[in-house]
Amino acid sequence: MPAAVAAEWARNRPRGETATVDATALVLGDPSPRLPRALEDLGRTVTRWHRLPSADQHYTPWPPTGPFGEVWARMPRSSLEAAMLLHAAAARVDDGGRIHLYGANNEGIRSAARHFPGGTDEPRPALIKRRCRVLTAVKTAPPPRPDGLDSWKLEAPVDWGTGARGWTFYPGVFAYGRLDPATALLIEVLPEIPAGSRVLDFGAGTGPIGAAVLERAGAHARVHLLEPDAISLAAAALNVPDATPAPGSELSAVRGPFDLIVTNPPIHVGGAHSLRTVEALAQGAPAALAKGGSLLLVAQRRLPLARILSDSFRDVRPVVDRGQFRVWRATDALRSAMRTTRTAAGPRGSRTRAVNARRGQSSRPRW
Ligand SMILES: C[S@@+](CC[C@H](N)C(=O)[O-])C[C@H]1O[C@@H](n2cnc3c(N)ncnc32)[C@H](O)[C@@H]1O
Repeated sequence: MPAAVAAEWARNRPRGETATVDATALVLGDPSPRLPRALEDLGRTVTRWHRLPSADQHYTPWPPTGPFGEVWARMPRSSLEAAMLLHAAAARVDDGGRIHLYGANNEGIRSAARHFPGGTDEPRPALIKRRCRVLTAVKTAPPPRPDGLDSWKLEAPVDWGTGARGWTFYPGVFAYGRLDPATALLIEVLPEIPAGSRVLDFGAGTGPIGAAVLERAGAHARVHLLEPDAISLAAAALNVPDATPAPGSELSAVRGPFDLIVTNPPIHVGGAHSLRTVEALAQGAPAALAKGGSLLLVAQRRLPLARILSDSFRDVRPVVDRGQFRVWRATDALRSAMRTTRTAAGPRGSRTRAVNARRGQSSRPRW
């Protein structure tokens, strides 16, 4: 909906507001093609950038340098990320060019004027419609912070039980400034990692699980960090320099086989609760694992992981429960799961019952 409202404003705004010497536009952080299409219809040459993989967009940690005649930014999830995006916008727009921020009320757009950096005039709501709005401001001077991701780096200590270490975060990464408790629980029950093991940290974020694996393996493991968010992966590359960063959102982006896949998986897609990624991981893991390999996964206890994992693995068991989290270990991949994705029929019921029978036994880690 915000993209539609922004496209409407782009098409219908007064002539004085459309005129730019430079007929280029940069669209930041919006997977929808609606606004770019509207701008192209107006004769703009449009460049798109997103930190996440998305069709036709630059997929890099930082937007391409301009300058551009105008910049449009889709309201991101956090205030800090909004400030970062607007700084990047201001560094790329021509002097006298416009910066537009658009989003929905429930994304915080009503109070988002405060995120515009110094060097822009007072942002004003240009269009308010369908619980969305477009805020617009003109650049009058360069923004205060130097351009680049580095200006937004946070160094904070994290400790998973082996001593505090400096950790790099950027706005919008998972567990900004801290170690997530579910991640900490998974790290606590990591198994011994034999020398030469190949390990995949799926959804690596800033890299704490991969780092803990390397620490446990005495750097004798080969760890791959799979992560779609280019900014998280930039942080992970600094935090875990001995691992191999792998940009992507699917197992096909990395070359196995792996002896171990470890993950605190995403349970949201585009801001909405979804188990789609966990299901895809469970379906793809058997083919990505070496013979005898295992998948170690942490998730909220209320989620139906036993059902999801037992579609692909014969042996699915809880390793540890703590608070609202549970770590699952899945081994002994089903042959059928190595070739195919889920089938409607099959011995799923009986496997699920076997898993259920083992549930709740675990208060201590077991391997
Ligand atoms: C719950 S966070 C865990 C991050 C990190 N492992 C940690 O423990 O701090 C899940 C991560 O998965 C990433 N992610 C989202 N969709 C993904 C996908 N399809 N494939 C792999 N990773 C994904 C997110 O960007 C996020 O960094």
